[in-house]
Amino acid sequence: MRITVMLLAMLLFFLPLCARAEEGPSSYHLPAYDDQVPSLREAYADFFKVGAAINTFQLQEGSDFYKTVIKHYNVFVTENEMKPQYINPSKGTFSFDAPDRFVAFGESVGASLRGHTLVWHNQVPQWWFKGENGGTATSEELLARMEEYISTVMGRYKGRIHTWDVVNEAISDGSSGLRDSDWVRIIGDLDGDGNAYDFMEYAFRYAREADPDAQLIINDYSLESDSRKLNDFYTAVRTMLEKGVPIDGAGIQAHVSLGYPSIATFEQAIEKLASLKELNPSFTVQITELDVSLFAWNDQSKTKEMTPELQQKFAEYYADLFTMFKRQAEKGNLDMVVTWGVFDGSSWLDGFPVSGRTNAPLLFDRSFMTKPAFWGVIDPALIPEAIAALE
Ligand code: G3I
Repeated sequence: MRITVMLLAMLLFFLPLCARAEEGPSSYHLPAYDDQVPSLREAYADFFKVGAAINTFQLQEGSDFYKTVIKHYNVFVTENEMKPQYINPSKGTFSFDAPDRFVAFGESVGASLRGHTLVWHNQVPQWWFKGENGGTATSEELLARMEEYISTVMGRYKGRIHTWDVVNEAISDGSSGLRDSDWVRIIGDLDGDGNAYDFMEYAFRYAREADPDAQLIINDYSLESDSRKLNDFYTAVRTMLEKGVPIDGAGIQAHVSLGYPSIATFEQAIEKLASLKELNPSFTVQITELDVSLFAWNDQSKTKEMTPELQQKFAEYYADLFTMFKRQAEKGNLDMVVTWGVFDGSSWLDGFPVSGRTNAPLLFDRSFMTKPAFWGVIDPALIPEAIAALE
């Protein structure tokens, strides 16, 4: 009799819970950190790691931001704080306060970390390019600074930062070949083999030496949409791999616009780059800075009304992207997808490139609420209910 009563009581307790699980969440418009909201990193655990760019000043424990990031991501990268301009502002000065906080945070939550970025033409200290005796630095001076920087920074976080963007944005936008940067102008074609990839070759070799186990990435934008740029990037990476330069993967930044490029064009870019596995079996592709602008790049309008139709288009594009990423991960072509920011309240696309323009390119809105696109990434079939929940 007592056992029957206990069993009945247990049944009464668990039945509503089971029914609730089947029913799904009480709403599809919930705070990102709500217990009823599925975790992105868990949803994609069988396919790839999911990450986001953060700033350490956003990490107050217990804040909406903090609760959101620890729930959803297992990869982090700093949006700005690990760029050479901040770490090595003047000769002999290295500032590691923010990077140390970043690494301590990542370790405290068991996440993988990306180091962004070592060699770039932007946010780089200008003293690197100036000679000891005035004028422009020599190639020897610049390479010595590059080596010192890479060995100091990577050495400090050896075995703790999993992946590094060793070279960022080296390919030209308008014309063919390499971007015309101080790196190319000063280092040039040192080995006389007919190309000026030398600064990248040195960077990757220094990086491998500094932390032999770190994953070394070459990162760039518009690879998913600009076939000329993709081809030049591919040729550069292929040529370097053929010379034995230690490159472990290609980062496709993926600052895309709603509906552009097509999923098929994007997928072809991943496949093309992943084919470099024939030269380095562990070569992989990563999506490193994903966001989906509501606007074409230089659309001068300042806002866009989020009508249900626009929500739907936005959610479907995000959902289609992640379905394609899953397919590519299953083929062994992709191991990581990182968004450039966490919520619409803190995105580089607000006010850029059009001043005063408000954008909304991420999966969580300005109040950390889930957008229909978030539910679309969890399961495309949920998009209609998520849009209805906004009304
Ligand atoms: O640190 C200064 C601050 O002292 C000053 O008061 C303030 C005034 O404008 O500027 C601050 O610097 C800003 C910096 O972000 C840090 O907030 C720069 O003006 C601003 O241009 C810079 O923008 C960053 C941009 O890289 C620089 O190129 C964006 O936040 C960051 O999201 C963006 O990230 C890049 C990736 O590293 C590479 N791929 C493209 C991506 C988007 O542009």
